[in-house]
Amino acid sequence: MSPPLLEVEDLRVRYGAVEAVHGVSFAVNAGEVTTLIGANGAGKSSTLAALSGLVPAGGRIRFDGRDIAGAPPHAIVRAGIVQVPEGREILAQMTVEENLLMGLRGRARSDLDSAYERFPILGERRALLAGSLSGGEQQMLAIARALLARPRLLLLDEPSLGLAPLIVKRVFDTLADLRRQGITMLLVEQNALRALRLADRAYVMELGKLVMRGTGQDLLGDEGVARTYLGG
Ligand SMILES: Nc1ncnc2c1ncn2[C@@H]1O[C@H](COP(=O)(O)OP(=O)(O)OP(=O)(O)O)[C@@H](O)[C@H]1O
Ligand SMILES: [Mg+2]
Repeated sequence: MSPPLLEVEDLRVRYGAVEAVHGVSFAVNAGEVTTLIGANGAGKSSTLAALSGLVPAGGRIRFDGRDIAGAPPHAIVRAGIVQVPEGREILAQMTVEENLLMGLRGRARSDLDSAYERFPILGERRALLAGSLSGGEQQMLAIARALLARPRLLLLDEPSLGLAPLIVKRVFDTLADLRRQGITMLLVEQNALRALRLADRAYVMELGKLVMRGTGQDLLGDEGVARTYLGG
Protein backbone atom coordinates (compact mmCIF):
# COMPACT_ATOMS: atom_id res chain seq x y z
CA MET A 1 0.00 0.00 0.00
CA SER A 2 1.31 3.45 -0.85
CA PRO A 3 1.68 5.94 1.99
CA PRO A 4 -1.03 8.57 2.48
CA LEU A 5 -0.85 11.66 0.29
CA LEU A 6 -1.15 13.86 3.37
CA GLU A 7 0.02 12.96 6.85
CA VAL A 8 -0.68 15.32 9.72
CA GLU A 9 0.88 14.68 13.09
CA ASP A 10 0.25 16.51 16.34
CA LEU A 11 -1.01 19.65 14.59
CA ARG A 12 -1.50 22.63 16.88
CA VAL A 13 -2.96 26.02 16.09
CA ARG A 14 -3.03 28.88 18.54
CA TYR A 15 -4.43 32.38 18.35
CA GLY A 16 -2.51 34.44 20.86
CA ALA A 17 -2.95 32.80 24.23
CA VAL A 18 -5.70 30.48 23.05
CA GLU A 19 -4.93 27.12 21.48
CA ALA A 20 -7.73 26.16 19.06
CA VAL A 21 -6.30 22.89 17.73
CA HIS A 22 -4.71 20.68 20.38
CA GLY A 23 -2.49 18.23 18.56
CA VAL A 24 -4.48 16.37 15.92
CA SER A 25 -3.17 13.55 13.75
CA PHE A 26 -4.84 12.26 10.63
CA ALA A 27 -4.14 11.17 7.08
CA VAL A 28 -5.65 11.64 3.64
CA ASN A 29 -5.23 8.91 1.04
CA ALA A 30 -4.90 9.77 -2.63
CA GLY A 31 -8.13 9.36 -4.57
CA GLU A 32 -10.28 9.41 -1.46
CA VAL A 33 -12.65 11.85 0.18
CA THR A 34 -11.75 12.46 3.79
CA THR A 35 -14.15 14.45 5.92
CA LEU A 36 -13.77 16.35 9.14
CA ILE A 37 -17.06 16.90 10.93
CA GLY A 38 -17.77 18.68 14.17
CA ALA A 39 -19.70 21.42 15.91
CA ASN A 40 -19.13 25.17 15.65
CA GLY A 41 -15.77 26.24 16.97
CA ALA A 42 -14.35 22.70 17.02
CA GLY A 43 -11.27 23.83 15.09
CA LYS A 44 -12.09 22.52 11.62
CA SER A 45 -11.41 25.74 9.72
CA SER A 46 -8.28 26.31 11.78
CA THR A 47 -7.02 22.89 10.73
CA LEU A 48 -7.58 23.68 7.06
CA ALA A 49 -6.02 27.12 7.49
CA ALA A 50 -2.93 25.48 8.94
CA LEU A 51 -2.70 23.09 5.99
CA SER A 52 -2.97 26.04 3.60
CA GLY A 53 -0.25 27.90 5.47
CA LEU A 54 -2.61 30.71 6.42
CA VAL A 55 -2.04 30.41 10.17
CA PRO A 56 1.13 29.33 11.93
CA ALA A 57 0.94 25.80 13.28
CA GLY A 58 2.97 23.38 15.33
CA GLY A 59 3.44 19.74 14.48
CA ARG A 60 4.28 17.93 11.28
CA ILE A 61 2.56 18.15 7.90
CA ARG A 62 3.87 15.80 5.23
CA PHE A 63 2.49 16.08 1.74
CA ASP A 64 3.60 13.54 -0.81
CA GLY A 65 6.58 12.73 1.38
CA ARG A 66 7.68 16.35 1.79
CA ASP A 67 7.55 18.33 4.99
CA ILE A 68 5.47 21.42 4.28
CA ALA A 69 4.84 22.71 7.80
CA GLY A 70 5.70 26.38 7.92
CA ALA A 71 5.77 26.81 4.14
CA PRO A 72 4.13 29.99 2.82
CA PRO A 73 0.69 29.74 1.17
CA HIS A 74 1.95 30.15 -2.41
CA ALA A 75 4.45 27.33 -1.96
CA ILE A 76 1.70 25.10 -0.60
CA VAL A 77 -0.52 25.87 -3.58
CA ARG A 78 2.41 25.12 -5.86
CA ALA A 79 2.95 21.81 -4.06
CA GLY A 80 -0.67 20.96 -4.94
CA ILE A 81 -2.84 21.80 -1.93
CA VAL A 82 -5.59 24.20 -2.97
CA GLN A 83 -8.38 25.40 -0.72
CA VAL A 84 -11.89 26.46 -1.68
CA PRO A 85 -12.45 29.04 1.05
CA GLU A 86 -15.47 29.18 3.31
CA GLY A 87 -17.86 31.85 2.09
CA ARG A 88 -16.55 31.20 -1.42
CA GLU A 89 -14.75 34.55 -1.90
CA ILE A 90 -15.65 34.98 -5.51
CA LEU A 91 -15.29 38.49 -6.93
CA ALA A 92 -18.88 39.64 -7.29
CA GLN A 93 -18.14 42.64 -9.51
CA MET A 94 -16.25 40.57 -12.06
CA THR A 95 -17.71 38.18 -14.60
CA VAL A 96 -17.73 34.44 -14.20
CA GLU A 97 -15.03 34.17 -16.84
CA GLU A 98 -12.87 36.85 -15.22
CA ASN A 99 -13.10 34.96 -11.94
CA LEU A 100 -11.97 31.79 -13.68
CA LEU A 101 -9.17 33.57 -15.51
CA MET A 102 -7.76 34.57 -12.13
CA GLY A 103 -7.56 30.92 -11.19
CA LEU A 104 -5.83 30.10 -14.46
CA ARG A 105 -2.55 31.78 -13.42
CA GLY A 106 -0.87 31.51 -16.77
CA ARG A 107 -2.16 28.06 -17.64
CA ALA A 108 -3.52 27.32 -21.08
CA ARG A 109 -6.96 28.61 -21.98
CA SER A 110 -7.94 25.05 -22.83
CA ASP A 111 -8.12 24.51 -19.08
CA LEU A 112 -10.92 27.07 -19.08
CA ASP A 113 -12.81 24.99 -21.62
CA SER A 114 -12.47 21.92 -19.45
CA ALA A 115 -13.90 23.94 -16.54
CA TYR A 116 -16.92 24.79 -18.69
CA GLU A 117 -17.25 21.16 -19.68
CA ARG A 118 -17.25 20.15 -16.06
CA PHE A 119 -19.65 22.92 -15.07
CA PRO A 120 -21.81 23.73 -18.12
CA ILE A 121 -23.84 26.24 -16.12
CA LEU A 122 -20.72 28.37 -15.74
CA GLY A 123 -20.20 28.31 -19.49
CA GLU A 124 -23.75 29.56 -20.01
CA ARG A 125 -23.19 32.30 -17.45
CA ARG A 126 -19.60 33.17 -18.36
CA ALA A 127 -20.34 36.82 -19.27
CA LEU A 128 -22.52 37.53 -16.21
CA LEU A 129 -21.30 39.19 -13.07
CA ALA A 130 -20.39 36.52 -10.56
CA GLY A 131 -22.44 38.35 -7.93
CA SER A 132 -25.58 37.71 -9.96
CA LEU A 133 -25.19 33.93 -9.69
CA SER A 134 -27.20 31.93 -7.18
CA GLY A 135 -25.46 30.70 -4.06
CA GLY A 136 -25.08 27.23 -5.51
CA GLU A 137 -23.64 28.55 -8.76
CA GLN A 138 -21.19 30.73 -6.83
CA GLN A 139 -20.05 27.62 -4.99
CA MET A 140 -19.55 25.84 -8.35
CA LEU A 141 -17.53 28.82 -9.52
CA ALA A 142 -15.33 28.73 -6.43
CA ILE A 143 -14.73 25.01 -6.89
CA ALA A 144 -14.10 25.39 -10.63
CA ARG A 145 -11.59 28.16 -9.94
CA ALA A 146 -9.76 26.05 -7.38
CA LEU A 147 -9.61 23.12 -9.82
CA LEU A 148 -7.91 25.31 -12.42
CA ALA A 149 -4.82 25.19 -10.22
CA ARG A 150 -4.85 21.40 -10.80
CA PRO A 151 -4.77 20.51 -7.12
CA ARG A 152 -3.54 17.15 -5.96
CA LEU A 153 -5.49 17.78 -2.77
CA LEU A 154 -8.58 19.95 -2.71
CA LEU A 155 -9.57 21.42 0.65
CA LEU A 156 -13.21 22.43 1.05
CA ASP A 157 -14.53 24.40 4.00
CA GLU A 158 -18.30 24.09 4.40
CA PRO A 159 -19.23 24.13 0.71
CA SER A 160 -22.92 23.67 1.54
CA LEU A 161 -23.11 26.47 4.11
CA GLY A 162 -26.14 28.71 3.72
CA LEU A 163 -27.52 26.94 0.67
CA ALA A 164 -31.10 25.72 0.20
CA PRO A 165 -31.55 21.94 0.59
CA LEU A 166 -31.96 21.31 -3.13
CA ILE A 167 -28.77 23.25 -3.86
CA VAL A 168 -26.94 21.43 -1.07
CA LYS A 169 -27.78 18.21 -2.87
CA ARG A 170 -26.40 19.63 -6.10
CA VAL A 171 -23.15 20.67 -4.44
CA PHE A 172 -22.72 17.17 -2.99
CA ASP A 173 -23.53 15.66 -6.39
CA THR A 174 -20.71 17.78 -7.79
CA LEU A 175 -18.34 16.54 -5.09
CA ALA A 176 -19.35 12.96 -5.87
CA ASP A 177 -18.52 13.61 -9.53
CA LEU A 178 -15.12 14.97 -8.58
CA ARG A 179 -14.53 11.91 -6.43
CA ARG A 180 -15.31 9.65 -9.39
CA GLN A 181 -12.80 11.67 -11.41
CA GLY A 182 -10.18 10.75 -8.84
CA ILE A 183 -9.80 14.14 -7.18
CA THR A 184 -8.56 13.81 -3.62
CA MET A 185 -10.52 15.93 -1.16
CA LEU A 186 -10.45 16.95 2.46
CA LEU A 187 -13.95 18.17 3.24
CA VAL A 188 -15.02 20.11 6.30
CA GLU A 189 -18.77 20.06 6.77
CA GLN A 190 -21.54 20.67 9.24
CA ASN A 191 -23.87 18.64 7.06
CA ALA A 192 -22.51 15.48 8.65
CA LEU A 193 -25.02 13.15 7.02
CA ARG A 194 -24.10 14.08 3.47
CA ALA A 195 -20.41 14.37 4.27
CA LEU A 196 -20.28 10.89 5.82
CA ARG A 197 -22.23 9.38 2.93
CA LEU A 198 -19.68 10.77 0.51
CA ALA A 199 -16.54 10.13 2.52
CA ASP A 200 -14.16 7.20 2.44
CA ARG A 201 -12.57 8.25 5.76
CA ALA A 202 -14.03 10.44 8.43
CA TYR A 203 -12.90 12.17 11.59
CA VAL A 204 -14.97 13.81 14.30
CA MET A 205 -13.50 16.94 15.85
CA GLU A 206 -14.55 18.27 19.24
CA LEU A 207 -12.98 21.22 21.05
CA GLY A 208 -9.77 21.09 19.07
CA LYS A 209 -9.26 17.33 19.22
CA LEU A 210 -10.15 14.38 17.03
CA VAL A 211 -12.38 12.16 19.12
CA MET A 212 -13.40 9.53 16.59
CA ARG A 213 -12.25 8.15 13.28
CA GLY A 214 -13.37 5.50 10.85
CA THR A 215 -14.85 5.00 7.42
CA GLY A 216 -17.79 7.18 6.48
CA GLN A 217 -19.96 4.07 6.83
CA ASP A 218 -18.59 3.31 10.32
CA LEU A 219 -19.43 6.76 11.59
CA LEU A 220 -22.84 6.80 9.92
CA GLY A 221 -23.63 3.65 11.87
CA ASP A 222 -22.33 4.94 15.20
CA GLU A 223 -24.99 5.77 17.78
CA GLY A 224 -23.07 8.60 19.40
CA VAL A 225 -22.39 10.23 16.05
CA ALA A 226 -26.04 9.82 15.07
CA ARG A 227 -27.22 11.39 18.30
CA THR A 228 -24.82 14.33 18.22
CA TYR A 229 -24.38 15.09 14.54
CA LEU A 230 -27.15 13.43 12.57
CA GLY A 231 -30.08 14.68 14.64
CA GLY A 232 -31.29 11.42 16.07
N1 LIG B 1 -8.54 34.44 13.91
C1 LIG B 1 -8.89 33.97 15.11
N2 LIG B 1 -8.50 34.59 16.24
C2 LIG B 1 -8.83 34.10 17.45
N3 LIG B 1 -9.54 32.99 17.65
C3 LIG B 1 -9.96 32.34 16.57
C4 LIG B 1 -9.65 32.78 15.25
N4 LIG B 1 -10.21 31.91 14.36
C5 LIG B 1 -10.82 30.96 15.11
N5 LIG B 1 -10.67 31.22 16.43
C6 LIG B 1 -11.19 30.39 17.53
O1 LIG B 1 -10.66 29.08 17.38
C7 LIG B 1 -11.64 28.08 17.68
C8 LIG B 1 -11.82 27.18 16.48
O2 LIG B 1 -12.40 27.94 15.42
P1 LIG B 1 -12.59 27.35 13.96
O3 LIG B 1 -13.10 28.45 13.12
O4 LIG B 1 -11.37 26.65 13.55
O5 LIG B 1 -13.72 26.27 14.21
P2 LIG B 1 -14.69 25.55 13.19
O6 LIG B 1 -14.75 24.13 13.61
O7 LIG B 1 -14.28 25.85 11.80
O8 LIG B 1 -16.08 26.23 13.50
P3 LIG B 1 -17.30 26.63 12.52
O9 LIG B 1 -18.13 25.42 12.44
O10 LIG B 1 -17.97 27.70 13.30
O11 LIG B 1 -16.76 27.09 11.23
C9 LIG B 1 -12.88 28.85 18.07
O12 LIG B 1 -12.92 28.92 19.48
C10 LIG B 1 -12.68 30.20 17.47
O13 LIG B 1 -13.33 31.19 18.23
MG1 LIG C 1 -15.24 26.75 10.22
